[in-house]
Amino acid sequence: MFSFLCLIIILFVVYGEEISPQLVKERISLLSFKSDVVLDPEGALESWNSSGIHVCNWTGVKCNNASDRVVQLDLSGLSLRGRISPVLANLSSLLELELAGNNLLGEIPPIIGDLSTNCVQIHLEENILYGSIPSSISNLVNLTLLNLSSNLLNGTIPPELCRMGKLERVYLSNNSLSGEIPAALANISHLGLLDLSKNKLTGSIPDSFAYLSQLRRLFLYENQLSGTIPPSLGQCVNLEILDLSSNDISGTIPSEVAGLRSLKLYLNLSRNHLHGPLPLELSKMDMVLAIDLSSNNLSGTIPPQLGSCIALEYLNLSGNVLEGLLPATIGQLPYLKELDVSSNQLSGNIPQSIEESPTFKHLNFSFNKFSGNISNKGAFSSLTIDSFRGNDGLCGEIKGMPNCQRRNAHLSFILPVLLSLFATPLLCMFAYPLVLRLRFRRQMVILNGGDLGDEDKETKDLKHPRISYRELIEATGGFSASSLIGSGQFGHVYKGVLQDNTRIAVKVLDSKATGEISGSFKRECQVLKRAKHRNLIKIITICSKPDFKAFVLPLMSNGSLEGHLYPSHGLNTGLDLIQLVSICNDVAQGVAYLHHYSPVRVVHCDLKPSNILLDEDMTALVADFGIARLIKGADDSNSTDDSVFLSSSDGLLCGSVGYIAPGMFLLFATTWYYF
Ligand SMILES: *[C@@H]1O[C@H](CO)[C@@H](O)[C@H](O)[C@H]1NC(C)=O
Ligand SMILES: *[C@@H]1O[C@H](CO)[C@@H](O)[C@H](O)[C@H]1NC(C)=O
Ligand SMILES: *[C@@H]1O[C@H](CO)[C@@H](O)[C@H](O)[C@H]1NC(C)=O
Ligand SMILES: *[C@@H]1O[C@H](CO)[C@@H](O)[C@H](O)[C@H]1NC(C)=O
Ligand SMILES: *[C@@H]1O[C@H](CO)[C@@H](O)[C@H](O)[C@H]1NC(C)=O
Ligand SMILES: *[C@@H]1O[C@H](CO)[C@@H](O)[C@H](O)[C@H]1NC(C)=O
Ligand SMILES: *[C@@H]1O[C@H](CO)[C@@H](O)[C@H](O)[C@H]1NC(C)=O
Ligand SMILES: *[C@@H]1O[C@H](CO)[C@@H](O)[C@H](O)[C@H]1NC(C)=O
Ligand SMILES: *[C@@H]1O[C@H](CO)[C@@H](O)[C@H](O)[C@H]1NC(C)=O
Ligand SMILES: *[C@@H]1O[C@H](CO)[C@@H](O)[C@H](O)[C@H]1NC(C)=O
Ligand SMILES: *[C@@H]1O[C@H](CO)[C@@H](O)[C@H](O)[C@H]1NC(C)=O
Ligand SMILES: *[C@@H]1O[C@H](CO)[C@@H](O)[C@H](O)[C@H]1NC(C)=O
Repeated sequence: MFSFLCLIIILFVVYGEEISPQLVKERISLLSFKSDVVLDPEGALESWNSSGIHVCNWTGVKCNNASDRVVQLDLSGLSLRGRISPVLANLSSLLELELAGNNLLGEIPPIIGDLSTNCVQIHLEENILYGSIPSSISNLVNLTLLNLSSNLLNGTIPPELCRMGKLERVYLSNNSLSGEIPAALANISHLGLLDLSKNKLTGSIPDSFAYLSQLRRLFLYENQLSGTIPPSLGQCVNLEILDLSSNDISGTIPSEVAGLRSLKLYLNLSRNHLHGPLPLELSKMDMVLAIDLSSNNLSGTIPPQLGSCIALEYLNLSGNVLEGLLPATIGQLPYLKELDVSSNQLSGNIPQSIEESPTFKHLNFSFNKFSGNISNKGAFSSLTIDSFRGNDGLCGEIKGMPNCQRRNAHLSFILPVLLSLFATPLLCMFAYPLVLRLRFRRQMVILNGGDLGDEDKETKDLKHPRISYRELIEATGGFSASSLIGSGQFGHVYKGVLQDNTRIAVKVLDSKATGEISGSFKRECQVLKRAKHRNLIKIITICSKPDFKAFVLPLMSNGSLEGHLYPSHGLNTGLDLIQLVSICNDVAQGVAYLHHYSPVRVVHCDLKPSNILLDEDMTALVADFGIARLIKGADDSNSTDDSVFLSSSDGLLCGSVGYIAPGMFLLFATTWYYF
């Protein structure tokens, strides 16, 4: 240090520059600062040399008018690597200190508190500073802005910060700060912005924040805050942004906070554990642009008064337990662009006003209990089925949605009664084995594995006649259009007559759906063939070539249940109550066998009226079981035969009542609707 000092003095003498003794000191300090910078990839500090350039002209250095003191040091974003030299404390009139966006590594030296009290801004964000925030920083009583964001700081927030009474903006986000938010921060009377987001803060939001009358923006998101939202926050009458999202906050939304009409940017309370109703006071927020209350446990109805939030552009209420109607006033909000009410219990029609709104861009109604007819006009014209999924009662013109005409077919009034008759056995059959299977999955796998050994015997089983591709072509008139009797998700169904006069249905799997040929396909099919039951359609045989896969089934003279339920679409025979009960019973038995007793334990995954066929005695037979599983197996080129075969967990998911329900219960739900 001594020799360094000498050098400076010598140079000073040599160049005879007019430089005040104070500035000589500051130059020494700056050079000492530079000596702690180990990497300067942009050569920013090259000018910091003693050979002639005046200190006040060094990169990032700014002096006062008299050019005798350094008042600002701004070295932001220069990728400097090194540590923050304590020598900065010797810059007696400093600057603002801006060292943001570097690779400054290490702890913030406690001596930072010895920086000039003239210092009004400290920018140390986006460095690699670790350790805790030294409480001595509170000596900088003239500081108005402190930015320590995006470092690796840990420890607690020093309550002493409150001694910096002139602070206006405090950014401590994206660190690893823990502990509670000091209530004393509320003593910083000028505080306008407090960003403590993305830390590990715990405890509750201090009640004392009510005193922050100048507070405009409060960011506390992505912490582990718990407790409730203090109603006293409602006294922060200048608040523009309140973001408490992604915490563990519980309780209700206080009406005082909901009534903060000052909020003109956004309110984000999403991803917490809030419950209770949406407060009516929300309607006072007539300037707010975005309200996000998603992923909570909010209940009750959506108040039509929300239509008073006329500046609203974004409203997210998804992932709650809201029920009742979606108010038409929401559709009348003049600037609303994004509306997400997905995953609630909303019911009734989607209001016409939404379809008619010219502003909507993103809409999500999925996973509710909405019903009625959806057009593909107006705001809905750009939507896909994704926006409507999981609403059994919706029909309309969106691609992938059931057609309303079919729904409108006059269904018998007794179906609702049947619902209970049908649902009860179904629930028992599904739910019980489901629990059972979860528990005994291990044993089951072994059991199924044992079955595998029988395969050779199975292939030799001559009960399944061999039918060649040519025979199928002959039987169906070359898969002619006139023998086409149905099309579905997996392909087309043709009727045909074999040479021995057996009437057959040939289900040709779409080659797109089957994809790559999988070794598991054949084996799965053979296993499927062994699922035999009075109420399961018998697979006569399977025809499999690399580019052609078909199931040969007996032709059912009475067609599908769908044809009977929707007379306009098939046979015109109405079904009486006895027949319906009997059909339901058949279906339940067939499915129960698949789930419970069959050696294969197939899960249907696609139970719907079109998959329930009726033979000449009107006995119902479940068709198409296991096909979903086959296609999946075929698609999964990585999986070995065994993994496909043994992956009973997939089946478990598919087999849940919740999944089966849409297909079958849809029918009943619609009946209710048109009742
Ligand atoms: C001092 O800085 C100037 C300007 O960047 C440069 O031209 C000169 O080579 C530097 N001198 C030394 C000794 O680094
Ligand atoms: C800084 O450099 C400019 C020219 O680049 C010069 O006019 C000015 O006098 C220098 N300031 C000092 C204090 O040397
Ligand atoms: C510093 O100089 C500028 C002009 O260069 C002048 O406008 C300003 O008032 C001066 N400030 C002080 C404190 O003298
Ligand atoms: C600040 O300057 C004084 C002399 O003015 C010196 O004794 C002290 O070591 C310096 N502080 C640092 C941290 O360099
Ligand atoms: C704070 O700054 C003002 C002017 O900026 C100055 O007059 C005052 O002395 C400073 N306070 C302290 C404690 O240094
Ligand atoms: C503070 O730092 C954060 C994170 O780098 C940055 O986004 C923000 O703009 C900074 N604020 C100010 C006023 O410097
Ligand atoms: C958070 O800080 C890390 C560095 O600690 C940085 O890489 C990241 O981009 C920051 N994230 C945000 C959202 O600012
Ligand atoms: C902060 O991190 C350092 C390591 O960087 C560790 O030694 C210290 O225990 C941590 N302190 C707290 C309070 O977590
Ligand atoms: C905050 O201010 C109040 C008076 O307004 C005072 O009683 C209290 O001690 C202060 N808290 C701290 C931590 O300085
Ligand atoms: C609300 O917060 C969540 C999580 O913190 C975030 O994903 C979402 O984008 C925010 N919403 C708005 C409108 O800013
Ligand atoms: C609404 O919030 C949920 C959960 O917080 C999120 O997944 C979804 O993307 C949000 N919707 C929109 C339109 O931003
Ligand atoms: C949601 O609230 C209900 C009561 O309203 C409660 O039973 C349930 O446990 C809550 N769920 C969560 C995830 O907090």
